[in-house]
Amino acid sequence: MSVILAIESSCDETSVAVCNNGKITANVIANQTIHQNYGGVIPELASRVHQQNIIPVVQQALIDANVSKKDINAVAFTRGPGLLGALLVGVSFAKSFALALDLPLIAVNHMHAHILAHFIEDPKPTFPFLCLTVSGGHTQIVIVRDFDQMEIIGETMDDAAGEAFDKTAKILNLPYPGGPLIDKHAKNGNPLAYTFPVPQIKNFDYSFSGFKTAILYFIRDKVKENPNFIEENLDDICASVQHSIVNILLIKLKKAALEYGIKDIAIAGGVSANSGLRATLQEEAKKLGWNVFIPAFEYCTDNAAMIAIAGHYKFMKNDFVGQDVAPASRMEF
Ligand code: KG4
Ligand code: ZN
Repeated sequence: MSVILAIESSCDETSVAVCNNGKITANVIANQTIHQNYGGVIPELASRVHQQNIIPVVQQALIDANVSKKDINAVAFTRGPGLLGALLVGVSFAKSFALALDLPLIAVNHMHAHILAHFIEDPKPTFPFLCLTVSGGHTQIVIVRDFDQMEIIGETMDDAAGEAFDKTAKILNLPYPGGPLIDKHAKNGNPLAYTFPVPQIKNFDYSFSGFKTAILYFIRDKVKENPNFIEENLDDICASVQHSIVNILLIKLKKAALEYGIKDIAIAGGVSANSGLRATLQEEAKKLGWNVFIPAFEYCTDNAAMIAIAGHYKFMKNDFVGQDVAPASRMEF
């Protein structure tokens, strides 16, 4: 019997969830709209807004789950990777809450949690499976052998896929976060209107830095010829950029699936909400005989339900941390 309170504060979402014996009974997410004015997440503002939001969001989660503080058996929290100041708010809250109620603490890796979001609802993947984890800060191909056995076999050398979406949106004068807006405009555009270079990177690794620059120069040159180029061709530009990013992601994913002989393929992280990626993955699955696992939209972008489910599996293994735990801004812990 376990009731786990889970806290996520790694970037610009303050989220709190409750997991009751492996079932998510609350998942409250407070989005920070303040960053829209700046074209990207401002770390210090994120920390301050987490500090304002954390208590009300916890209270709402307890109401939604219909539990009181005394029903909780453990507190799970995102230890990292993420923005240090933002993580500190969630980690400090979790520690204080656990200390006051004499509860064990569970430290969760945010990127592992994105993958474990697949265990919130059916159908659940079986081990081993391959997961393309694509977010605002990471792009990884991971072999998932068990809940706590994950091997990164490929990752970006520089920028993440989410950054490629967000940076393109910024060049196109769209507000942050641009990924969902590019997705929206892409629905009405021609994906083959413009072509962009595919980075030539070794093994299963990625690179999006040169790709971003190619888009910047392409738009700059086109706007020189026609100052209204963006407005007149927005849908086609978005469709073409999205098509290129999805193509880049899929080339390496297919290569990894073939090399490791794995046909159970999942996607996770904020960019897994992209309709182009979801549709292309389904098409490839039909051609290649893959079983694909695509998370529900609410579990793609940052949320505490994924921290709660990761916490649930750690709770069953008594995998706890002490009160001396601190945030980890890098992947390894
Ligand atoms: O996983 P996430 O919520 O936060 C991080 O851990 O980084 O991912 C956020 C990223 C942002 O770059 C955002 O633009 C992107 O996910 N994103 C999308 C879509 N929804 C969110 N990118 C493309 N299409 C979408 N529909
Ligand atoms: Zn994330």
